[in-house]
Amino acid sequence: MGLKVEINFSNLPKNLIDTLRSSAQELGIDRMAIVGGVIRDSLIDLDVSENLQPPKDLDLVIEGSTIELAQMVQEKLGLTRVSISQENRAFQTIKMVVDGLFIDIARARAEKYSSPAENPKIEPTSIEEDLHRRDFTINAIALDLNTYKLIDLHGGLDALKKQELTFIHSHSVQEDPTRIIRGARYAARLNFHLSKESIHQIQATIKQWPWEWNPTHSEHLAPPALATRLRMELELLLENEPWEQALEFLQNWGGFLLLDKRLHKDQKWKKRIALALDLGLTPLTALIAGSSNPLSLSKRLQLAGKQQNLLKELDELQSFFKDIYFSKKYINWKPSDWCDAIENKNWHSNSIALAICLEIPLWESLLRWFNDWRMIKSPLSARDLIKKGWEPGPGLNEELKRLRRKKLNENN
Ligand code: CTP
Repeated sequence: MGLKVEINFSNLPKNLIDTLRSSAQELGIDRMAIVGGVIRDSLIDLDVSENLQPPKDLDLVIEGSTIELAQMVQEKLGLTRVSISQENRAFQTIKMVVDGLFIDIARARAEKYSSPAENPKIEPTSIEEDLHRRDFTINAIALDLNTYKLIDLHGGLDALKKQELTFIHSHSVQEDPTRIIRGARYAARLNFHLSKESIHQIQATIKQWPWEWNPTHSEHLAPPALATRLRMELELLLENEPWEQALEFLQNWGGFLLLDKRLHKDQKWKKRIALALDLGLTPLTALIAGSSNPLSLSKRLQLAGKQQNLLKELDELQSFFKDIYFSKKYINWKPSDWCDAIENKNWHSNSIALAICLEIPLWESLLRWFNDWRMIKSPLSARDLIKKGWEPGPGLNEELKRLRRKKLNENN
């Protein structure tokens, strides 16, 4: 403890650190530290280059009132530079933005989990104790802003050297299973490995399943770390990280079991997600589509209503085309028959795309519909037909359909 390290603050907004320090002094806040990603990444970058990237966000931990500190910084730097975007009174955290940099200020806290995976109860504490509630040792290195010394109580520096991710304590996964996803994100992004004990902790905890809720219960009762927070971590993994590598780690560690048993064994997620991205679908919906009950899982994770609807239609599509496949009705179908079958149901085109990604029976024809057939229109418009003497009404509609069918079958 107490290693003095030069961290380059030149990429931070002008006067930020000085203003934080003088505000803390005026408010009687004795201790303040930067923690988490910025310190971790600066220490990694120190080894490779002097050209540090400006951080995306900054995590501060303080022994004192977060709202008072944020307000004083805003007063000193001015409203044009500083906005306070969110205050969480229960956790005593503040989100603010200074010159475009997102800053999270947290009051140093100890966490008590009344029930694992629920949100914890908190108690104010020292910065040193706060580090103990965190996920990985590399994320628990703090830079004390009074002394400019590093506080590294959990061997984070050593882990950085070994490029190793290690949970800080043995209940980490039980308390917050989203940390498994976080581990996969960091391992893929930083090219780190998860320590043997941590892999063992993941596997033993999932096997034991210490959470009151399990997938046979109603999806609405799932605690945050097995529901919404899990979704948020998965979205970050799929949208911001090298997702193929990260999901591979997650599957190898047994982490997919947090979601579903079938996904744990699924060998097709990589192809499915890559195709989904090509077809403009959200990758998480495509991942979930391979689970044993996609609609139930999407409800548990509280996916947007639109995405839930795609998964509901996927279920209908699957049974519809399975019937057609086994009855062999489709054998002599022309493109127009395919269009009738697909379009009469009014499914969303993204549901068809999802069914293609999942390679449901007859998916090749669905792909032809998605890429070509659905775009083919009647060569004459309603206006052209009226000019030729047709009366508006059902007869004209039928004629338009007939002309489209003819064109579909001619071209293909
Ligand atoms: N943290 C944690 N457990 C979680 C989420 C966050 O212990 N489930 C702690 C970690 O110490 C983490 C810090 O909160 O470093 C900030 O979290 P976050 O902003 O999500 O991560 P960063 O450290 O900023 O890393 P990055 O944004 O690069 O992923």
